[in-house]
Order: sequence, then structure tokens, then C-alpha cells
Amino acid sequence: MTTAPTAPSAPTAHLSARGLSKSYTLNGQRVPVLDDATLELTPGRITALVGHSGSGKTTLLQIAGLLLPPDRGSVRIDGQDAWSLSDRARTGLRRSALGFVFHSFNLLPQHTALRNAALPWAGAPADGRRRAVELLDRVGLADRTGHRPGELSAGEQQRVALARALINNPGTVLADEPTGNLDTASERRMLALLREVADEGRSVLLVTHSAAVAAVADEVLTMTDRAPRRTRSARRAQPARPPKSAGRSARKGTAR
Ligand SMILES: Nc1ncnc2c1ncn2[C@@H]1O[C@H](COP(=O)(O)OP(=O)(O)OP(=O)(O)O)[C@@H](O)[C@H]1O
Ligand SMILES: [Mg+2]
Repeated sequence: MTTAPTAPSAPTAHLSARGLSKSYTLNGQRVPVLDDATLELTPGRITALVGHSGSGKTTLLQIAGLLLPPDRGSVRIDGQDAWSLSDRARTGLRRSALGFVFHSFNLLPQHTALRNAALPWAGAPADGRRRAVELLDRVGLADRTGHRPGELSAGEQQRVALARALINNPGTVLADEPTGNLDTASERRMLALLREVADEGRSVLLVTHSAAVAAVADEVLTMTDRAPRRTRSARRAQPARPPKSAGRSARKGTAR
């Protein structure tokens, strides 16, 4: 008898960033983007980050996501000062603690949905496949595991990307305009899934241009003068409670 892959409960990762500054240099010109920026993500909550184009949202997400080094400041994840770790340790931390969803999906076109979802898996391949099947089922794609990105709708591709983001059971999901390329129905579905992800006890950062998307968040930060400022505080009492309609979230409430 084969044993079903264990569905580990979502870890309570806490991501916080302090004093982040970042400038780009282009053609000898310094372009300051972040100045003393602070970011605090809370397990069980969706934090939306809004702001005009070019205000530094993606830059902040990439620094918090350990993809881009800050000029100054620190990012703490799971109690570790991530930017002071070795490259190797930081890569390991990024892989285990963080999941990413990008607005252009970033799936590999030659691979099936199953293979794309399993790509970041750090353990034995057979376990990765089992977990990818489980996650694709969870995002409503059980009958699309063999499809390649070109054979999937935009909404389906983004749900594959969400399955991929969850493959290593991260405590934090960082989503950069995850609904930017989706129609209204797919947007709604993606936001419902992100809510389930948060209800499992994960922290979710949701970068968006859309006020309607930001409205689903528990907290809204607006990039102002090169730093995120709180524009709306949590709409829910902490800890986040499971949604009234149970949905398909099988592991919620595990984090506290
Ligand atoms: N590699 C780079 N070199 C130089 N300047 C850059 C680089 N990347 C970003 N910038 C500049 O930094 C600023 C912030 O960019 P960022 O992508 O973080 O903004 P954003 O808020 O995500 O914008 P959008 O809403 O359009 O995605 C912009 O003015 C951009 O032109
Ligand atoms: Mg951006």
C-alpha cells in the first residue's frame, strides 16, 4: 500500500524587514527607490501593497523575497537575518520559507503542469510528484496535470504557479500582481485561494494595482515617499478565523 504524502501543517514563519534602502544606478544616474522601508507580515493575514507604477513595490517584494539585495537594512525570516547569511544558506531559506507568484506566471513552457508545480521541490522526486498532484487537485486542476502552459488558460496557469509556490510548504507567499493577467472570474478564484493559503496560517503579501483586489486584504500598505505606509488596518480580529464556508482548505488553523 502506498502512503499518501504527508501534508505538513503550514509553519508560522514571520517575515519582517527593517530600514530597507535601495537605489538603482542607471547611466550614471542614481535612482533612489526605497528609503528606510519597513515591512511586517503576519501569519494568517493577507497584506496588500499598493502604490503607483514605479513606486518600488516589486523592488520591496524582491528584497523581502531574498531575490535582490538591499543597500541597507535587514530582512528577518524564521528568526534569521537573511541578508547576512551565506548565498547558499540564503538560497536554502528562500526555497523552504518563501513561495512566489508572479503576474506573468513564469512557468516553463516545455514542462507539464505537474512538472512545473514540482520544480522547486527540494526532496525525493517521487514525493515531489505526489505533493504536486495533491496541490494541483487543491487548486482545481486535477484534470490538467499533463497540460503544458500553452495548453492552459491564464487563470489555470496562475493556479499552477500557486501550486508551485506551495510545493515546499512555505510560511510566506509573496505574490506580485498575481491577478494582473486574469479575467474577473479567474481573479476571484485566485483571491479565494490566497485567502485559503492565509487561513492555513501563512503570511501573504499581495502586490496589486487594483483597489478591488486590495479590498480582500486584512491590511493595506501604500508606497509613499519610498516606503510602505499603513492605509488600512486589519479587517479581521487576530487570529484569523476560518472562513464561514469551509472551502477545501484541509489544513487551516494549524499555525498557532
Ligand atoms: N534594474 C533596474 N535598474 C534601474 N532602475 C530600476 C531597475 N529596476 C527598477 N528600477 C526603477 O525603480 C523604480 C521602482 O521599480 P519597481 O519595479 O519596484 O516599481 P513598481 O512599484 O513595482 O512598479 P509597477 O507598479 O509598474 O510594477 C522604477 O522607477 C524603476 O524604473
Ligand atoms: Mg511591479
